[in-house]
Amino acid sequence: AIAGTTSTPSADFVVVANRLPVDLDHGVDGERRWTASPGGLVSALEPFLRSRKGAWVGWPGVPDVEVAEFDDDGLVLHPVSLTAAEVSNYYEGFSNATLWPLYHDVVAPPVFDRSWWDSYVRVNHRFAEASAAVAAHGATVWIQDYQLQLVPAMLRELRPDLRIGFFLHIPFPPVELFMQLPWRAEIVRGLIGADLIGFHRPGGAQNFLWLARQLVGLEPTRGAVGVRSRPGMVQVGDRTVRVGAFPISIDAAGLDTLARSKSVAERAKQLRADLGNPKAVLLGVDRLDYTKGIDLRLQALHELLHEERLKPEDVTFVQLATPSRERVEHYQRMRGEIEQMVGRINGEFARVGHPVVHYLHQSVDRTELAAFFSAADVMVVTPLRDGMNLVCKEYVATRADLGGALVLSEFAGAASELTSAFLVNPHDLDGVKNALEAAITLDPAEGRRRMRAMRRQVLTHDVDRWARSFLQALGAEPVG
Ligand code: ADP
Ligand code: F6P
Repeated sequence: AIAGTTSTPSADFVVVANRLPVDLDHGVDGERRWTASPGGLVSALEPFLRSRKGAWVGWPGVPDVEVAEFDDDGLVLHPVSLTAAEVSNYYEGFSNATLWPLYHDVVAPPVFDRSWWDSYVRVNHRFAEASAAVAAHGATVWIQDYQLQLVPAMLRELRPDLRIGFFLHIPFPPVELFMQLPWRAEIVRGLIGADLIGFHRPGGAQNFLWLARQLVGLEPTRGAVGVRSRPGMVQVGDRTVRVGAFPISIDAAGLDTLARSKSVAERAKQLRADLGNPKAVLLGVDRLDYTKGIDLRLQALHELLHEERLKPEDVTFVQLATPSRERVEHYQRMRGEIEQMVGRINGEFARVGHPVVHYLHQSVDRTELAAFFSAADVMVVTPLRDGMNLVCKEYVATRADLGGALVLSEFAGAASELTSAFLVNPHDLDGVKNALEAAITLDPAEGRRRMRAMRRQVLTHDVDRWARSFLQALGAEPVG
C-alpha cells in the first residue's frame, strides 16, 4: 500500500541509489503505476531495507516527473527528479555509455564526453543534497553503485556528522583501464569521502587502493585485503577510510521457501509440458545487456546443433531477457543481433509447434521466475564480465531437489564462490560448448553432489550476511 506522507521524518538509516526500488510506469490504459525496478541492486537491497524500515533516495525511472516522498509499506521513498536531458547525459551517457563499458573490461568502447561528465557532477550533487535533507543527525547513509561515485565527498561536505558507506555493485576495473578516464582523480576523490568503500572482490579493493596512492597521493596500507575481513586503510586528514571486499548475495531462504511451494512446483511442471517435455531445458535469465554473453551462448547452441552433438527434439533453450537501457546504441545493436540469432536457430532447427529457442523480451514476476528455475535442467550464465551475477545464486537457491546444473562464466564475481559449477571462459566457444554438453549429460549423482556444495555456499552467505558484514565494517552495527 502506498500512501502520501506530509512531513520529512529524519531517517537514521538511508540508502541512496540511482533508482528507487519501484519505477513509475504507464499502463496500457495510460494510468500511472509503480512496478518493481530492474536489476540486481534492487533484488538484493529491497528485502534487506524493508526489514529495517529505512529511507531510500532515488530516481523514479522516468524523466521530468516530480513525485512527493511516500511511504511504501514502511519504507519511505524519496524521489529525485531528472530532466530528459539528464536522463540522456547522466544516465544513458556517462553512467551507461562511459562508466559501464569501462568498468566491464571495455567489452564495448567507452565514450568520453565532457558534457556528459558535467551532467554527472550536477546530478550527483542533487542526490547529495536530497540525502542531506533526509538523514537525521549522525545517521548512516549507504550510497550505491557507479552512477553516484561523487556523492560520498559531496555529502560529507554538506553533512560532516554522517556515517557514510559506499558500495560498488559492478566490477572495479584493472588500473590500466581506469586510467583511461579523463576524470579519474575526481572519481577517486569522490569515493574517498566515504568512511567505508566496498567492492565485490578483493581485487577491486586492491585496484582502488593503488589508484588512491597514484592519483591522489594518499598512503594506503599495503597488506592483502580479505573477503569481509582485513579491509585496506587510507588516512585522509583526520579520517581513516576503509576499503574492503563484500560479495553481495540474495534472499536465499525466501527463494528456497518460495520454490518449495506447491504452486511453483505445479507451474514448473506446466512449463515443461508447454515446452513439449524435452529431455533437457536450458535457461538464460538476464537484463538484455551486451556484457551478459547472451549472443555467445546462442552461438554455442547453434554450433552444437549443427555438429549434431545435440538433437533439436531433445533440447529447448529458454532465454528471458528484461528490456534494459533501450535508448543506448550498444544495447540496440546487441538486441538486433540476439533476435537475429534466435530467428536463425529456429529457422534451421525448429519444427511446427516446437521452436528450439524460446525468447521472451520481458520481465516475469518472482513466482514465475522461481518456476522457470525449477523447470530448468541447465542454467546458462555466460557474462564476459559481471560484478557478481545474482541469477546463478537464485538458481541454486531454488534447487532444494538438488536437480539441475549450472554453467557459469569465470568472469562473474560469483565464480569464486560457486566453484562446483561448470566454470567456463566465455571467450572460448569450444569450452562453452563442451561445458553445455557435459551439463546436459551430467550423471545425476554427480549433479547432486555439485548442487549440494553450491547450496551450502549460497544458503549460508545470503544478502543479510552481506549487509551486516558491510555495516559492521562501517561501524554502524555491533559485531556478533
Ligand atoms: P544485473 O544487476 O546486471 O541486472 P544480476 O544477475 O546481479 O544482474 O541481477 C539481475 C536480477 O534481475 C536478478 O534478481 C534476476 O532474477 C532479475 N531478472 C533478470 N532478468 C529477469 C527477467 N526476464 N524477469 C524477471 N527478473 C529478471
Ligand atoms: O549493478 C547492476 C545495475 O547496474 C544497477 O546499478 C542498476 O540499478 C541495475 O543494474 C539495472 O540497470 P538500470 O538501473 O540501468 O536499469
